[in-house]
Amino acid sequence: MDTRERTAQRLLDTSARLSFDPIVEIDWDAPAEPGRYWLPPRRSSLYGTSLWQGLTEEQRIELSKHEVASAASAGVWFETILMEMLVRHYYDADPTSRHAQYALTEVADECRHSIMFGKLIEATGCPFYPASRFDHNLGRFLKATAAGPHMFASILIAEEILDAFQREIMADESLQPLIRMVSRIHVVEEARHVRYAREELARQVESAGPLRIAYARTVIARAANSIANRLVNPRVYASVGIRPRDGRAAARTNPHFQATLRWSAERVYAYLGELGLIGGPAHALWRRSHLI
Ligand SMILES: [Fe+2]
Ligand SMILES: [Fe+2]
Repeated sequence: MDTRERTAQRLLDTSARLSFDPIVEIDWDAPAEPGRYWLPPRRSSLYGTSLWQGLTEEQRIELSKHEVASAASAGVWFETILMEMLVRHYYDADPTSRHAQYALTEVADECRHSIMFGKLIEATGCPFYPASRFDHNLGRFLKATAAGPHMFASILIAEEILDAFQREIMADESLQPLIRMVSRIHVVEEARHVRYAREELARQVESAGPLRIAYARTVIARAANSIANRLVNPRVYASVGIRPRDGRAAARTNPHFQATLRWSAERVYAYLGELGLIGGPAHALWRRSHLI
């Protein structure tokens, strides 16, 4: 067995030992606990702004709930794109290989996750917050065509950014139990996905020529921008009486939120940099997205 197969075998073993079925694992009918935030308040996109100062504690909690529903909506969107990419990756693979079998195992994980996120949105009572038409169509293009380094890099960016938030949420006992449980299940299973994508990405970079790397850098920066923009849908602000346009503008220039975005992308940005996937003319997009 080569390293690719050995990694896949290990991931298959862990998946068999430690996987969750959120449908039975989570008490979906438990009422929300009054007075608890859905994400640490300092991670809210408006934290520290004058708009935030103008909100009551109750409204701040309400906003945190809508921000979680927005992130879960983004999660479903990323995962749908990811599932299609992985199925296409599998299409070209030998089904007897561990690598191919793990690709399908990951698709199975994501199927459960997307149902979990859908149920989470439903349980919060918030609306589903879809991607903008532009991002929705960009996703449609990416999921139908992406292959090679930029495919696995885009997967990694989405997974690692969400993961940063979820690790913090699952460890924070002051937050709503439902979001902590959802985060815990997701963190445990995503650790395997991150491992798989990181190693596969490194192998693909090794065998890619300079033209392919240059193209990948551009698509990767664009994907990072979409993911960062997509986390908080501007319509969440309407839930606390703030015009979406105003909330969006305040969030964009909020140094606390910019620091949060940088913090969430730190790990994946460093890794992509090590692999030479950061740079070129599109690099400015990383900065404009406040991911660096
Ligand atoms: Fe997932
Ligand atoms: Fe994943």
